[in-house]
Amino acid sequence: MEGLDLDSVLEEQDAVAPAPEFVQAAAVSDPDALRARAAEDPEAFWAEVASELDWFKPWDRAVDWDLPFARWFPGAQCNITHNAVDRHLSTWRRHKAALIWEGENGDREVFTYAELAREVNRGANGLRALGVGRGDCVTIYMPVCPQQAIAMLATAKIGAFHSVVFGGFSAEALRDRMNDANAKALITADGAYQRGKVVPLKATCDAAVADCPSVEHVIVYERLGTAVEMVTGRDRTWAELTDGQASESTAEVMEAADPLFVLYTSGSTGKPKGIMHSHGGYQVGAYATTKWVFDLQDTDLYWCTADSGWITGHSYIVYGPLMNGATVFMAEGAPDFPDAGRWWSIIERYGINILYTAPTAVRMFMRLGEEWPDKYDLSSLRLLGSVGEPINPEAWRWYHRVIGGGSCPIVDTWWQTETGSILITALPADPQKPGSAGLPFPGIDADVVDEHGNRRPDGVGGYLVVRRPWPSMLNGIYGDPDRYRDTYWTTVDGMYAAGDAAVRDADGYIRVLGRTDDVLNVAGHRLGTMEIESALVAHEAVAEAAVIGIPHEVKGEVPKAFVIAHDHVEPGADLEAELRESVAQQIGKIARPQVIEFVGSLPKTRSGKIMRRLLKAQERGEALGDTSTLDPGSIPD
Ligand code: PRX
Repeated sequence: MEGLDLDSVLEEQDAVAPAPEFVQAAAVSDPDALRARAAEDPEAFWAEVASELDWFKPWDRAVDWDLPFARWFPGAQCNITHNAVDRHLSTWRRHKAALIWEGENGDREVFTYAELAREVNRGANGLRALGVGRGDCVTIYMPVCPQQAIAMLATAKIGAFHSVVFGGFSAEALRDRMNDANAKALITADGAYQRGKVVPLKATCDAAVADCPSVEHVIVYERLGTAVEMVTGRDRTWAELTDGQASESTAEVMEAADPLFVLYTSGSTGKPKGIMHSHGGYQVGAYATTKWVFDLQDTDLYWCTADSGWITGHSYIVYGPLMNGATVFMAEGAPDFPDAGRWWSIIERYGINILYTAPTAVRMFMRLGEEWPDKYDLSSLRLLGSVGEPINPEAWRWYHRVIGGGSCPIVDTWWQTETGSILITALPADPQKPGSAGLPFPGIDADVVDEHGNRRPDGVGGYLVVRRPWPSMLNGIYGDPDRYRDTYWTTVDGMYAAGDAAVRDADGYIRVLGRTDDVLNVAGHRLGTMEIESALVAHEAVAEAAVIGIPHEVKGEVPKAFVIAHDHVEPGADLEAELRESVAQQIGKIARPQVIEFVGSLPKTRSGKIMRRLLKAQERGEALGDTSTLDPGSIPD
């Protein structure tokens, strides 16, 4: 728990109650009753939720729990795409809009559920024709557009599993992820618009695939319609893949525990880990949380501003909303381009009802000034959501007042790539406390404990843990079962430790304080300090590097690097710029250190481990605390 500034965040905030009309009409109007019922018998509760979905074969038991490995719904067979798409076709939702998209340049596309099904099926048949199928990995490197979701669904339908890589990652990061998962095919786009410029996705793919022997096929969705280089035999357009393919396709029958996707996320080592999720358990978590947390009604237009390159897009753009038969809005491009009114104009023009975004965006808009949202009619909004990092009470209040007109509940949802779906949040009918995520979701046994697993008293910080398994929990780390156990199940014996510190108040509300490990949260995105350090030392001028997070007004946190340059190099502004660029090239722009400080030594333990804690304390001008393990030869500058 060292290094956490508890006092600064513990100031009690007044609860904000939702309007009685909202509570009355809510999907869950008595959250306490639902939580109490779920707590009585969580397994029976989850089985009851699961029975709202279609299964090809029912389960024998809700879960087999052999700590730390859980197998949800053993014996059951299903395919998540049946629940996300096919099962709506025999209902009135057949011609309801599933996806509505606006490109940065004003392009528009709408897919009804029936149209979505046809396109997914044609994609699925096209992939099958290439010999891609059960157990194969398909990497998806695309911008936010309906075809990104279609590519995911087509992959899952044929029993392959997807690995979506955020379009802002570099060729090297893409290459490493494809090699780790042994990707057989890559689906990308010719490019995308970002701030009026073209992002050349296909060119990045070409650079990455050059070093990926497993990739046999590259499929290019023509987002822009511009000419890109195509490699004969390896590359084809999405149109070529799907031309002449039947618009019907049978979903592969999957065991509940069969893999649906792998998604890479940062941990405390230099190598991102592939978090695995499966069809059966994941679908239950994503379905139930979307339904109750976002209070989805059939008349709603729902907008989650994430990208499916992150877990939020998987669970709350694609699978959760579609399983609920929702109409999902998607937008390409940056929030403040062509001007700071883009999002508010979208809300006005389309009549968005539910907006789910990240605190970093809220803080950015706060800084740009309320005159931008004030220009637009935002009265269609009825519910707001926040995800990715703690939302500071000031930003919460601004979001509530300026965007929500003082009347929309805000669900502050805590969860992780590993948890698959939301685990902690006040439900919309609960009182909301600014800055506090809220209560464990029904059926989730989350708490704050000390290192021995003892419950911390109210108001005392500790480890955020989950005691019992939950359906959408990760199925492991791709290719590394030991790392799964070591990373999540050893900090507190017998419990899932999230890597976050938290504190619970007298009402049971959990406030997340931040990470306890060497993971940064930059604008709601996870980055490992060691990943950035490895990228820095890969540069010939660098002897050693240490990275910490420093506070940033908009992004929450940004990387700062301490670098020891080799004797023969002259550290200075030129080298700093070169190193920042080199990190962007190796990982992506989000990992670029904001500041690089050249130093003569780094504080290390006697065994040579860098003590980032000391660098952080020094940065904040605090006392260095316990330095008994410090190597006396490595005094901080
Ligand atoms: O530190 C927590 C923070 O983001 C981490 C998970 O990051 P990732 O797997 O990339 O998933 C982000 C989107 C779910 C957590 O360990 N975090 C996420 N949501 C919140 C949060 N911290 C505080 N409040 C939240 N609502």
